Amino acid sequence: MNITVIGTGYVGLVTGACFADLGNRVYCVDNNRKKIESLKKGKITIYEPGLKEMVRRNIRDGRISFSTSIKTSVKKSEIIFICVGTPSKENGEADLLALENVSREIAKNINSYKLIVEKSTVPVETGEWVKKTIKTFSAGGGKKRKIRFDIASNPEFLREGSAIEDFMHPDRIVIGVESRKAKKILSNLYKPLNAPIVVTDIKSAEIIKHASNSFLATKISFINAISSICEKAGADIKEVAKGIGLDKRIGKGFLNAGAGFGGSCFPKDLSAFIHIAEKLGYKFDFLEEVKRINEEQKDVIIDKILKLIWNIPGKTIGILGLSFKPNTDDIRNAPSIDIINRLITQGARIKAYDPKAMEKSRGVLQKGITYCKDAYDVARGSDCLVILTGWNEFKELDFRRLKKLLKQPTIVDGRNIYDPKMMKKMGFVYTGVGRKV
Ligand code: UDX
Repeated sequence: MNITVIGTGYVGLVTGACFADLGNRVYCVDNNRKKIESLKKGKITIYEPGLKEMVRRNIRDGRISFSTSIKTSVKKSEIIFICVGTPSKENGEADLLALENVSREIAKNINSYKLIVEKSTVPVETGEWVKKTIKTFSAGGGKKRKIRFDIASNPEFLREGSAIEDFMHPDRIVIGVESRKAKKILSNLYKPLNAPIVVTDIKSAEIIKHASNSFLATKISFINAISSICEKAGADIKEVAKGIGLDKRIGKGFLNAGAGFGGSCFPKDLSAFIHIAEKLGYKFDFLEEVKRINEEQKDVIIDKILKLIWNIPGKTIGILGLSFKPNTDDIRNAPSIDIINRLITQGARIKAYDPKAMEKSRGVLQKGITYCKDAYDVARGSDCLVILTGWNEFKELDFRRLKKLLKQPTIVDGRNIYDPKMMKKMGFVYTGVGRKV
């Protein structure tokens, strides 16, 4: 099929590349000319395993192309995926201006039947606004041409660092449609994935996305709350998580206690869901509490550092991991940002290393941080080593060497990647999150 994908961020670029890899002809559009020029040369601006190769392969085979023109791409396509950003406004509400602007542009260039699909994460009722906008701006210009189009919602469930895997092997595909034609087109498009397809109405599909991310965030804040109780009771959160996660109704995923969740989705989607619920007349205190527990986790980590090194002013704290999770260079809303800022405010000197996120961190973190070339460089002269992202390469360090390099053999394991008994045996003063030491 001929497909236009508008927006070439994490979601749009992965979606476009994967649809092309499935044999479709994909026209990717973005209003960022610089980004489009790099993409035309196969230069990928985001770190996502396998994406660069996939994009280059499909450029070579002529299945994917890039432009800044919605006009030319829409005219050549039957399906148009809207994958533009829906960032949070100050008050937590989703900013849908880009979505409206793109909807107007699409409307002005409808030259035959189009299926317009919102893939961006949007609050419920957005589909109605897209429909209204397209109706208004396609009938414009006085021409009485019969404009035929459908709107659909097709939320994505892609995790950064495994986005291609998640696209090609989804647990389910959700399509919110209003016509048999739209259902047929999307069912055929996704047929090669051979995955369960949930066909529903547009509003339910929009809520499925917000509810999914909110539930995943809830699991994380729940296990972090339980980890605080484990610490006070002298129990072990990993044992508790294992014991509850084996219940199929609970499931073992997303029960890893630690420094809390970050990223471009959970914080944004929680706020947007709370906001739209309130607008509809429901006060979502429950999700406010999920957010609060997550925020509190950063202070939990700082309190742990204080407990190990007494005072912070003048001390050097070594941070391992800046990205919001392993296998990504993305540090948006990463716990490391607030934790480092709070430590600096309290007079700490910071040394930091991340396998992939150093570049992006320099642009976000405040000046004065010493960026190191590896974990040992971070440990050299530090009073405490703090793990904030559970990268695999931190799991197999030479601990004997680390201990010699540290001013004090203290470790705050903010992602519970080490075994407390083993750390203690090697002579470290170790604390994890909810671990029984
Ligand atoms: C998430 C959803 O998983 C995905 O379905 C949606 O489409 C986009 O948002 P992503 O934000 O890329 O994906 O990362 P995810 O793997 O979900 O982790 C989110 C955050 O939760 C990370 O900061 C991670 O460190 C944290 N996390 C995850 C925990 O703290 N504990 C866990 O058990 C799992």
